[in-house]
Amino acid sequence: MPGNDVPTAVREQYEELPYPLRDPRDEERRLIHTIGSNLVVVNHFCFKGRMDFRTGFRCLVAGGGTGDGLIYLAEQLRDFDAEIIYLDMSVASRRVAEERARVRGLSNITWVTGAIEDMQKLDLGEFDLIHCTGVLHHLESTENGLQDLAAALNEHGSMLLMLYGKYARRPVYDMQALLRAYLPEGIGRREKIEKVRQLIDCLPETNWFRRDLANWGHEISPGGNGDPGLYDLLLHACDQAFDVPGLYALAGSAGLHIQGFPVGSERYNPFSAIQDEAVREQFERMDLPMQQATAELLHCDISRHEFYVGRGTDSVASLDDEDNALLMFWKMYGKHRQLADAMLPGKVFTLQVDHHQIRINCSEILKHLFACMDGQIPLHEMYERVHQALPMASREAIRAELKGIYTVMHERGLLYLVMAGNLATGLPDYDRLNQVPGGDSAGVDPNTLKIDP
Ligand SMILES: C[S@@+](CC[C@H](N)C(=O)[O-])C[C@H]1O[C@@H](n2cnc3c(N)ncnc32)[C@H](O)[C@@H]1O
Repeated sequence: MPGNDVPTAVREQYEELPYPLRDPRDEERRLIHTIGSNLVVVNHFCFKGRMDFRTGFRCLVAGGGTGDGLIYLAEQLRDFDAEIIYLDMSVASRRVAEERARVRGLSNITWVTGAIEDMQKLDLGEFDLIHCTGVLHHLESTENGLQDLAAALNEHGSMLLMLYGKYARRPVYDMQALLRAYLPEGIGRREKIEKVRQLIDCLPETNWFRRDLANWGHEISPGGNGDPGLYDLLLHACDQAFDVPGLYALAGSAGLHIQGFPVGSERYNPFSAIQDEAVREQFERMDLPMQQATAELLHCDISRHEFYVGRGTDSVASLDDEDNALLMFWKMYGKHRQLADAMLPGKVFTLQVDHHQIRINCSEILKHLFACMDGQIPLHEMYERVHQALPMASREAIRAELKGIYTVMHERGLLYLVMAGNLATGLPDYDRLNQVPGGDSAGVDPNTLKIDP
């Protein structure tokens, strides 16, 4: 709750309890990667798929914490002439991030200890990308913080932000209110944590936080974010949450536009949940921001809004630009041929990736299209190839099939657009990154491809 000593309390918290809890030795066995910090995804949403990251790319990780986004970006940019600046006011957090970079042998990071509010004085220059996740909602003024960051974006630059979601975190705010009333004044952080753990063990079954504990268990459990996670979630001195209209208002206050929601996009789309035609019609009357706002209320499970903002309104790669190619991504990376081969026209194909289950009505057209989703073949050539192979299929029919499957797979983070050819030259070598043993990026599990008879 904002007050005079809030910035001091926030800084002291992260000095005592760096967050998220990370052991630098884990860098020897896995690479933590996140969708929004992936450069293919950044390229799709922020640079029309056309950014060449090899020369002169500048990136600021503001409030970089113990280094998750930082390390992933630095790893992807390792072989390029790119500059990554880490900024955080917590020295203890920086030490963890520095040690993680050392273990990985990363030397492309410039380290700065300081506050976002002092950006002007720090004079760090202009950036193509600013990465600021889980930070601005802890500032006394989120608007001022965003403006400070926006002033450091170059003309075509974009930011990745993560801000808390209002509705999914309701049980957390109820619990915070309980703790404000329950905890004695004047006790230290460690004692507070102990008392909160005692109380959590006694919560009645009717308590909303207890009912919702499965969603927060990782944050507070010793095997997850432990004590730093518990303090961050339930005892933070400044913690604000946003709904979708609040995000639009915040972006607008800094002269920025929302460019997309890379994580869980389907939860910003009411049509992903509603099959009933009459109900869908009602949503069709709404503009996009209103659809997204109502979708958040429909789903009620967005605890974190991860989104890109920038000055441009046309930064997102589009199917209409037929120089773009399609790239299967995330756990489907490099699996386009495997998928095409597994498809039997006339049958229903179930693609199971993580919690997503996508049922695809296979057709000859789709089988041919999937085989071309290698990030290299431009859309116009794809259409031509399919038309050559299936002369009876009109170009309109081919485009329509592609649009349908693109919408479904893109919303689930499995398909992106990239300027054809850019993959080979201007993007990181994801095959190398995928080889990190035990990493989340270990590739697609063959068991995730399943065909229904
Ligand atoms: C919740 S952690 C998030 C860390 C990281 N961005 C991530 O997503 O894993 C918030 C971080 O922001 C830093 N921070 C908070 N307010 C800040 C400010 N005004 N200026 C710079 N850093 C700040 C804290 O020190 C802390 O390391």
